[in-house]
Parts: sequence; structure tokens; C-alpha cells
Amino acid sequence: MTRRAWLIALLALVQVLLPPVCAETGSDAWLRYAPVDPASARLYSHLPAVVFTSGASPVVETARRELLRGVRGMLGRTLKVESRLTAGDAIVFTAFDAPVEGAYLVKATRRNGHSVLTIAGAGDRGILYGVFAFLRRIALGREIENLDEQGAPYAPVRWTNEWDNLDGSIERGYAGRSIFFDNGHVVPDLRRAGDYARLLASIGVNACTVNSVNADPRTLTSAFISELARIADVFRPWGVRMSIAIDFSSPKSLGGLGTFDPLNPMVAAWWKQKTDEIYQAIPDLAGMVLKADSEGRQGPSAYGRTHADAANVIARALKPHGGLLLYRAFVYDHHMDWRNPKNDRARAAYDNFQPLDGQFDDNVILQIKHGPIDFQVREPVSPLFRALKKTNEAIELQITQEYLGQQRHLCYLVPMWKEALSFVGHVNGFVGVSNVGLDANWLGHDLAMANLYGFGRLAWNPTLGAQEIADEWTRMTFGNDTHVVDTIDSLLNESWPVYESYTGPLGAGTLTDIIQAHYGPGVESSERNGWGQWHRAGADGIGMDRTVATGTGFIGQYPPAIARTYESLKDCPDELLLFFHHVPWTYVLHSGKTVIQHIFDTHYDGAARAQTFPERWRELKGRIDEPRYEAVLKRLEYQAGHAVVWRDAVCDWFLRASGIPDARGRVGHHPGRVEAESMTLDGYVVEAVTPWETASGGKAIGCLQPACSASIRFEGAAGRYDVAVQYFDERTGVARYKVTAGGKLIAEWLADDTLPSDQPNGHTSTRKTVRSIVLHPRDEIRIEAQPDQKDHADVDYVEIVPAGT
Ligand code: GCU
Repeated sequence: MTRRAWLIALLALVQVLLPPVCAETGSDAWLRYAPVDPASARLYSHLPAVVFTSGASPVVETARRELLRGVRGMLGRTLKVESRLTAGDAIVFTAFDAPVEGAYLVKATRRNGHSVLTIAGAGDRGILYGVFAFLRRIALGREIENLDEQGAPYAPVRWTNEWDNLDGSIERGYAGRSIFFDNGHVVPDLRRAGDYARLLASIGVNACTVNSVNADPRTLTSAFISELARIADVFRPWGVRMSIAIDFSSPKSLGGLGTFDPLNPMVAAWWKQKTDEIYQAIPDLAGMVLKADSEGRQGPSAYGRTHADAANVIARALKPHGGLLLYRAFVYDHHMDWRNPKNDRARAAYDNFQPLDGQFDDNVILQIKHGPIDFQVREPVSPLFRALKKTNEAIELQITQEYLGQQRHLCYLVPMWKEALSFVGHVNGFVGVSNVGLDANWLGHDLAMANLYGFGRLAWNPTLGAQEIADEWTRMTFGNDTHVVDTIDSLLNESWPVYESYTGPLGAGTLTDIIQAHYGPGVESSERNGWGQWHRAGADGIGMDRTVATGTGFIGQYPPAIARTYESLKDCPDELLLFFHHVPWTYVLHSGKTVIQHIFDTHYDGAARAQTFPERWRELKGRIDEPRYEAVLKRLEYQAGHAVVWRDAVCDWFLRASGIPDARGRVGHHPGRVEAESMTLDGYVVEAVTPWETASGGKAIGCLQPACSASIRFEGAAGRYDVAVQYFDERTGVARYKVTAGGKLIAEWLADDTLPSDQPNGHTSTRKTVRSIVLHPRDEIRIEAQPDQKDHADVDYVEIVPAGT
């Protein structure tokens, strides 16, 4: 037996010996309550067998059921429920006298020789949170003998926003259709919504806005309000309150008034009457979210009124019911003149809202995106947080990875959020744009759920560490096997820096296509238009001059000490350099590299590190259940391929823009790569790809007839090779590909993904790698393909490199 064969046999043996792992869909997320291993079970052998609960509120009832479910699942024991406290060991639910609603205490004591586990809560939610905290301990394998754990939520507002449209689509949602709506109505079966509320409650989220911030005025019709009430009903037992996004023009568009001027008494009366009507149907509505005067939404500017006028008229209608108005500070002009170097979208939130500090009613909370632009891979923190002194603030974080790989790329966001939080100071609330969908695993990528989990945990306790949260989440989601935990924790923790490395460098923005899908590379899409996500790259250099001295003055919105650091080229941190300064390509960073060489190096490094993700995941085979293992592997393999697309697109674009070659000779030189357009084509036609940098050499081949083929002769030495086919998998249609080498079939696949474009470009460019193929000189490598609908079975190139390199 060769060494390799021994190794394979050994691996197979290890897999046989590992305990069987049950198939899972990911729908239980971190609340799987999988049986603990026998050694850990011993830690809980003294857990009382009886649970005593008094009172019968729906939330306490939920807490009781959850406790039973968790203990049954993890420990295989069925607790007995008593409504009268009897002598003996018991778990006791009780009230906790704490100032913060939702606080809990979980404490193990001895009373008259008996073990008593007290789960005490400030309010019913506190008891439910205490139960989840207790079950978490068991899932994490922590002892409970001397348990004395207290928790209290940091921020009273812990909401998610879902950008669901009433037709069932989800704006910037990447995991299937809405769990709430379909075809203009609330769906008949709301079990998924109830399951979602369970997940939210388990991380302390206490409200959920169910419809998109780009709100449909129909949300507020009487008929729809009664439909919405059904969602609130399924949320309620979990202590999750519903909230709704509203359209500011509703008094006119829906109410039939001639105006929606916030200072018009008829408008104020309309909001009051409408709000009263909503509270009749949904007495515990948490509040409303308003996006006004932004991206085409109607707002107070239509009448020359301020955002405070707009917020207060609705807040006053909500006030008698205890409701909050979350007013979004994401207000900017998306028709800005890009020719004016003083224009700057980053300034907008501060310019719009800082002058209004102190003018908002006390039940208004300004909902501020953490960065001044829009959830880019790296931004400084919005200066508005520190500028408001007399206004309630909530930080808006985005769980759905709109600009960060859309859950096809792994990107654990908690480290990024932690950086933002270290700047913002105190906030009254946390809002997470989540956009879960009907996909069984909620967010489309099992590992992306670490972001939803992390959002809730941070809103509860912002001092928790990113690694600590990752570790908790991994153990609860995949179990306590050390190899599994170490691998997943490290993948999570590396993922944001890796994603940043192969996308947007040095604070220049994500460099994705900002006009359409916000997904694949589109370096130039941000330039020469009014959206204001400019990076200003040109022959002389790159970056937005936002200095006070010579630029847009944005830096002046920060407190002086911070402004000084950003203003000074010398002190400005490298990772934000291009956000604040325009510098030549040859500018030398603190790292000692020039800007251009940094771009080349980080892109090669990031893409190389992404290649390790699937390799590392493969080591977990047999240690986690097969469906989740396979599903994650598929995403990580796809990501590894798409990271190369990003690397090449960004490097090629910057090579052309700067005219400076890569000092290490990699950019534009790809050993083993054969452009499809130079292969022998039968039926295929050569096509130009837009934007040019998203295809190797700017060109690809497409098939506009029932079947086509492309072939080459292998010219290298005999040996084992990895053969990669770079093709484009358009959204509509399922093209078929077949690849033979030396007459033997080496791969066959369907291009059946639903990537966000019907064109060959950076969104659809996909890599299929066939590993360790034996090739001989003059072997024919042949691609045979059949297009389907808008999927023209396009091919960019074939790359043949020695196996494993
Ligand atoms: C982004 C996103 C939009 C969304 C907007 C918002 O621009 O692309 O889809 O509506 O943010 O947060 O309001």
C-alpha cells in the first residue's frame, strides 16, 4: 500500500468509528438541542426532574415548553411540570427584581437539603431569556452545579428589520421568498414566522419589523392590518413584538387627503386615527420604521419640513400606545453631481441630522447605519453617533450580506461590528437587517447564521468578543467536537479579512457592481454617476479626498482627536486610507508597500486563503451531518472559485488604471490558462464581456445554437493536473457542460445556479475544478455544452496546472 492509500484507509476507518450524525436541514439553527455526549451528560445528572411554574402567561408557558424541549433533546429526560411547589428537588420559575426588563437570574441553590434551580426573570421575557441561557450552558457543555448566572440586555431596542415585500420577494434577501407574505397577503401558514420568533427570542431580540423599509402604502390598509395582526399573534408567545415600516405619503396616497405635510393638522389626525386602528388590532405593536427622503421615497422635504417634523407627527400618534418611531438616518441625494469634488455622500447623515439634535420627541430613535456609506466591506464609523447629544440613537447593522458576498461567500461580520461599536459610544438600540427567507437554513448559508446569532448576542451584551460569540454559535450549531469547533471558529474569524482582501482594498468600498446586484466585481460602476460611492481611481491615483484641508470636509464631522488622525496622511490607518485621501498609486503605506502593490498582493493572498476554506472544511467529513456538510462545502468551493474572479477583475482593472505592473509578475500572467476565444470552436462565438475586467482578456465564448464545443490540445508533460473551467452560470436557464480529456469524461455538470444576472459577467463567472487528472502530451481537452434559455453556456477560459498547486 502506498502512503496515500494508507492515509485514505485510515480516514475511512476514523469515519466508521465516529458516532453517527443525524441529517439536519439547518432549520433549528443553534437551537438543535442535540444529545450531549455521555461524559457531559454526567454534569447534569443532578438536574431536578420537576419544574414548577406559577402563572400562565403565554411567554412563561413558552419558556416552560422550551425548557422541556431542550432538556429532552440534550439529556433525554422528560421534566415533570408542577403548578404547586412541593418539597424536593425542583426547577423554579420566579420573578426577578431587576430594573431592566428582560433581565434574568439562573441560580443553583440547596434548600432544605434539596437542589433548587431558580430561573428568575424581570418580566415574563426575563424568564424565557433565563431558560435560553440555561439551555445554552448545557449545549456548551458547561457545568451547572454552582450555577449563578445573571444577564440583562444592554439596549432596550433589539430589533430586526426584514425587507420583505408584500408580493413575497425580499429586497436584498438571499435565502428564498418571504416567510410572511405572498402575492399581496400574509401567508396562511405562519409556522415559519413562529419558528423565526423562537430564534430571535433565544438571542434576546424583542421586536421584528416585517416589511421592507421601502414600504408599500398598502401595508396600512384596514384589510392588511388585520392580516398583519396574525403575524403579531405568532410572535407574541416568544416575547417578540411586531413592528411595521410605513410610507410617509400614506395620508395622501392611502388616506385620500390632499397632502402629507407633517405640520398639517389633518395629516396629524390621520396618523393618529390610523395608529389607533393598528393598536386595536395589534395592542403590543413595538412601533414603526420610517425611511423618508431617501432613494426616491417621499419625505418632509416635499413641504419644506424637517426630519424632526416628520418623525414627531408619527411619534405623537404612537406615544399613547407606548410605541416607538425608528427614523432612518440613511438619507442622501442619489443624484449628486459626480464632477464636483466637494460633493460627498458620506457627509449626508450628519449634515441632515446633526442640526436637528434635540428636536426629536423622546419616543423617536434615529436608526443610523454603522458606516457613512452603505454596508461596505470597510468603512469608518458614521460620525453622526458621536455628534448627537440629545437624540436617541440605534445602530443599524446588516446581517444579510448585501455587499459582502450575499451568503455565497463566508463573511462573519461580528469582528467588523465590534470595531464600529468601539467607536459609537452609548446607543439605545440595535437594529439588524436580517432578511431571512423560506430556505430551510434561513439565510442560505449555514455558516451565515453566525451573523444573526452574533447580532442578537451583541445587542444583548456588546462587550462579548467576536471569537467568544463564534465559539458559542459553533458549539450550539455543530456540537462540541474540538476539531469541528476549531475549524469552524477559525474559518469564521478569518472570513471578513479574507473577503476584504480579494474585494475592496484600503477603504475604497467593496468595488462591487453598485448599480445592479451589489454582488460580483464592478470596479467602475461606482464612478461617473450620482450614487456617490466614488473611489475616484484614475491615472494619477485613487481615493476620495475627504480632508478638511483640501477635500469634502467630511473628516471635520468627527470629534477633533479622531479628525486629526484621519486628516493626517501620516496617521491615517492604512485600512481606511482611500476612504479619506486621494493618493498616487506609488504612495507608500505604513506596511512599506505601495498602494498598487498592496492591491495586487492582498488580492492574491486573499484568493489563496479562500482556496484553503473548502480544504479545511473537508476535514470535517463524518464529524457533522452529511446534508449540512455538503451544503457548506458547496458554498465554500464556489467561494474559492469566485475569489479568483474577484482577484483577477480587481487586479486587471487596477493594472490598466495605474499602468504599473505587479512587481511579482502575477497580474495578467496566468500559467496554464487558455482563453476560450483561442480554443478550437465548433458553434461557439466569441463575445465581449461587460465590464471587461470580469472576463479574462475581456472576452468569452457563447453558444447560440443547440450545442457547441471548444477544444485544445494539452501541450505539457505527462502527469497529474487540476483542470479548471471558468464558465458563466446565468440566472435563467440550465446549461449543460461535459468535459473530456484524452477522450475520457472527466466532468459533467449543470449550470443551474440562480446567480444575480442573465449576462456573462462578474456575478455569473463560476469555476469548476476537476482535480488530479492524468494528462499526456497532445491529449485533447474538450468542452461540450448545451445552452438553455438565457444561459448560453458561456466559457471564459480553461486553466491546467500541476495537481495540488
Ligand atoms: C441599500 C439597499 C437598498 C435599501 C437601502 C436602505 O441602498 O441597496 O435596497 O433600500 O440600502 O437601507 O434603505
